[in-house]
Amino acid sequence: MKRDFLTLWDLSSDETESLLARAKDLKAGKDSGKCPLIGRSLGLLFEKPSTRTRISFEVGIYQLGAMALTMNPSELQLGRGETLSDTAKTLSRYLSGIVIRTFAHSTLEQFSANSSIPVINGLSDLHHPCQILADMMTIIERKGRLRGLKVAFIGDGNNVCNSMIEAASLMGFNLRVACPEGFEPDAAILEKATSSARSEIIVLRDPKEAAGLADVIYTDVWVSMGQEAHSREKKERFREYQINDRLLSCSKKDVTVLHCLPAHRGEEITDEVMDGHHSAVFDQAENRLHAQKALLEMLIK
Ligand code: CP
Ligand code: NVA
Repeated sequence: MKRDFLTLWDLSSDETESLLARAKDLKAGKDSGKCPLIGRSLGLLFEKPSTRTRISFEVGIYQLGAMALTMNPSELQLGRGETLSDTAKTLSRYLSGIVIRTFAHSTLEQFSANSSIPVINGLSDLHHPCQILADMMTIIERKGRLRGLKVAFIGDGNNVCNSMIEAASLMGFNLRVACPEGFEPDAAILEKATSSARSEIIVLRDPKEAAGLADVIYTDVWVSMGQEAHSREKKERFREYQINDRLLSCSKKDVTVLHCLPAHRGEEITDEVMDGHHSAVFDQAENRLHAQKALLEMLIK
């Protein structure tokens, strides 16, 4: 039976812990040169731009011994009207798994329903679970644990924020989201997360209150891919939500700053913070590779 990774909740907390431990081993060089996926082919279907996700998957797939096939939807018959379900059925006959970056989350679900291979969410408008695997790995590197930590997500209640909420409920860390009114995370995800969480997950307005005594401060762009309409007005609403030295002074002295990247320097984060000693943003980017290799080992049979 194939297993997908469309959201963080597709893994149990035990599985997530094992995956993060395996990612740590892979990063340390354990089993390097072993090729568990030799002879396999994995697809990458990206409807939006990507630097980290696409390249880290391509490199990781190669390191595991398989071949990565990157597909631009406009160069497939999909771009000429072939249905997603027929595309999914066809690609299942060639590939051992597929990573999809798309707009509507339902595209991933529809592809999965019509395919016999594992489908991995490389980002949708609703979720970015692969990113959060790398983020959790980075937090553990810096803080030694997840459980009980205080994490603040400051900015837009977007796909990255939604997946962070799922991670908090799964792994038992506290999460304070600070966002302007009208930019809250997905209500259904929040409700499900808060009803099952063993930790505090709350949404508030004041970025200083969220940052107060935080172990980790996370931000992301104010305008996500595909949501560029009215971006000027939107950025005005977010001005108070910038991660800068003033905001960091409200948190713990050893706070770690995360950003999934790409960053809009000078908007959601200043150069000083991004390049400063609290920042772990390039460790996060590197950890995409290790976490996704562990994910592929788990899912691709
Ligand atoms: N963080 C992230 O997913 O980056 P890319 O858009 O470059 O893949
Ligand atoms: N929220 C951002 C994440 C980019 C990795 C976006 O969807 O554009």
